[in-house]
Amino acid sequence: MKDIKDIKDKFLKNFLKEKSTSDNLHSDSQIIKIDYKLKRQLNKANNTKRKSDEHANKINEVGNIIDIKNLNKYYISGGNTTRVLTDLTLSIKTGDFVILYGKSGSGKTTLLNLMSGLDRPTSGDLIVSNQNLPYLSNMQLTTFRRNKLAFIFQSYNLLNNLSGFDNVETGLYLQKDKSKQQDIKKMFEDFDLIDVIDKYPSQMSGGQQQRISILRALAKNSEIIFADEPTGALDKKTGTIVMELLRKINMELGKTIIMVSHDPELIKYSTRVIKLSNSKIVQDETNK
Ligand SMILES: Nc1ncnc2c1ncn2[C@@H]1O[C@H](COP(=O)(O)OP(=O)(O)OP(=O)(O)O)[C@@H](O)[C@H]1O
Ligand SMILES: [Mg+2]
Repeated sequence: MKDIKDIKDKFLKNFLKEKSTSDNLHSDSQIIKIDYKLKRQLNKANNTKRKSDEHANKINEVGNIIDIKNLNKYYISGGNTTRVLTDLTLSIKTGDFVILYGKSGSGKTTLLNLMSGLDRPTSGDLIVSNQNLPYLSNMQLTTFRRNKLAFIFQSYNLLNNLSGFDNVETGLYLQKDKSKQQDIKKMFEDFDLIDVIDKYPSQMSGGQQQRISILRALAKNSEIIFADEPTGALDKKTGTIVMELLRKINMELGKTIIMVSHDPELIKYSTRVIKLSNSKIVQDETNK
């Protein structure tokens, strides 16, 4: 039986050749029709561990925490196949504060979810912290996320029946490497949040809740912090406070942060901005 990867690569190559000149300029992703057999193959690639080959043990280039090569993502739902990321090649240096920027539907969340091992690419290499993610099993991906990554969500996702301190402590519990564990009380002092240390989320403002969720991410002392629109639910002033906190964490603690936003005003906080449009990177600027 022919290897699925061969068939898929051939398909993707032909497809890209045909389509690259006829992109739909009015939409940021493209809906395409493909036959049933191919759909099954793409579905399989999207949902299962990739069979080991010469790419399986690839590690990051020196100084990089993420190396992406020829990454493609197709979503298959019902009769439709949506091309969301096309042949993306991209490297991110350890210690960068990257903002993935682009209009709604441009694939920002998709790329973030792929880089953080929450979803699988259809094809291509995706090396994060020296692991080529498509080659990990679901269980290995879960362990990878738990040990290496932290997440900040637009909706904070705090536990309502826990105090500020206890919410941050849940981040600490997730870090099994004791040498990486942080002093929580000191974090509240350092980040000027001592007045909400004993409060419950319902007693905090949105901005305070988001800052607690950032401390929780920080308590884990993971290698990368991923954030999807972390200021999306905040007013401008509070959003600024949150962005300044993220910037401080990046500059003073050297944490790699990868954040999604569609707000051009936030770009100035990042060290690099990568703009997505029509399923491709259309702009990539260093901002130091
Ligand atoms: N699970 C899915 N199944 C099918 N299509 C999907 C799925 N998730 C996302 N898409 C499609 O992929 C495209 C990119 O979605 P994505 O969520 O990555 O965009 P985004 O840039 O984060 O947008 P927003 O700024 O609105 O959050 C959209 O066209 C979306 O409809
Ligand atoms: Mg999104």
